Amino acid sequence: MARALNVIKPSDNLKQDFPALARLVNGKPVIYLDSAASAQKPQCVIDTMTNVMSEHYANVHRGVYTFSSETSIAFEDARKKVAQFIKAKTDREIVFTRNATEAVNLVAHCFGQSLKAGDEIILTELEHHANIVPWYFLKEQKGVVLKIVPIKPDRSLDMAAFEKLLGPKTKLVAVTQMSNVLGTVVDVADIVKKAHAVGAKVLVDGSQSIVHFDVDVQAIGCDFFVFTGHKLYGPSGIGVLYGRYDALNALPPYQGGGEMIELVTFDKITYKEPPIRFEAGTPAIVEVIGLGAAIDYLNGLDRAACHAQEKKILQEAEKRLAAIPGVTIYSTAPERASIISFAVDKIHPHDVATVLDQLGIAVRTGHHCAQPLMKVLGVTGTVRASFALYNTMEDAEKLIEGVQKVKKLFS
Ligand code: ALA
Repeated sequence: MARALNVIKPSDNLKQDFPALARLVNGKPVIYLDSAASAQKPQCVIDTMTNVMSEHYANVHRGVYTFSSETSIAFEDARKKVAQFIKAKTDREIVFTRNATEAVNLVAHCFGQSLKAGDEIILTELEHHANIVPWYFLKEQKGVVLKIVPIKPDRSLDMAAFEKLLGPKTKLVAVTQMSNVLGTVVDVADIVKKAHAVGAKVLVDGSQSIVHFDVDVQAIGCDFFVFTGHKLYGPSGIGVLYGRYDALNALPPYQGGGEMIELVTFDKITYKEPPIRFEAGTPAIVEVIGLGAAIDYLNGLDRAACHAQEKKILQEAEKRLAAIPGVTIYSTAPERASIISFAVDKIHPHDVATVLDQLGIAVRTGHHCAQPLMKVLGVTGTVRASFALYNTMEDAEKLIEGVQKVKKLFS
């Protein structure tokens, strides 16, 4: 039997569970406000991954010896944890990929094989490049038409425009549940209902949303849902594609190789059922088990309380930032979570971030892998602060003080 994984109870001060947050940066305690790019890891994830490698590491699904069976059990346990976490009907709906980007590419590649010139795919102006480029490949390769839902002046999605774009040629809608730039939250269940009414499939990019609220893929009703481990306090190198079983089972294989086959001859090859059909080659064994540990950690928290606290911090930070003369906040959409994109006067975002770094504050700047959205906003980049469950009101306070210092320095 696999050893029980090392699940550590979350402490009252969540920062203490994340060892990197104890570091000093430029002589100051680090204030990490870039979790939308990648989150810090709790000690239990680090310990679990170390434990796999130091106690029973072996390849999965391939050996009858103890190490292999212990690791295989831990690996498949992680699949069950993911399925439960997003409320999938069965763990057979969970495919492990390298990241969310690969999960979108998998669907674009496999589902795309059934498309022909003139078929339509609907995207939105809120999308990350990962949910644009794979569909653009289909435009180039097959003549598929991409239609783009605009955002409104408050930077929420224009649902009326979406409904107008839907039609009998719509084959798929690919939409984020939460913008990685603006934090804008999209009512994806409503999108699914309307898309299904015209027979289109829906892929939801949950890379940001899964971190900030409870996801129920059955309630959303989507055909596909993708997210990545490293934003969910797990390791990098591991992503998840959820596919409703019938939707997943309708797809041909993605990559070919070991374990995804049933039978191989030089004349004919048959393939296994999902999810293994889509997991060619040795998977990210340690990372998958690490993601399972991150989910254990989250399950040990009062997540509703964490989400409420994140919301309070966001509201306070936004209010205080907006009160600083010369600060522009790019979204006033009514539904937003945990991300603020802003500008400080005409100061270049990189300069803002460099000064903040001197104060120990980590924010992301640039186009955030969303160049079409930058074009809509009329900028080349923004400063982005993103909050996670380990951030505190004091962190928001430090950000405000930091922005005030930036202003002073450049005035
Ligand atoms: N998608 C990540 C971000 O928004 C990398 O920063």
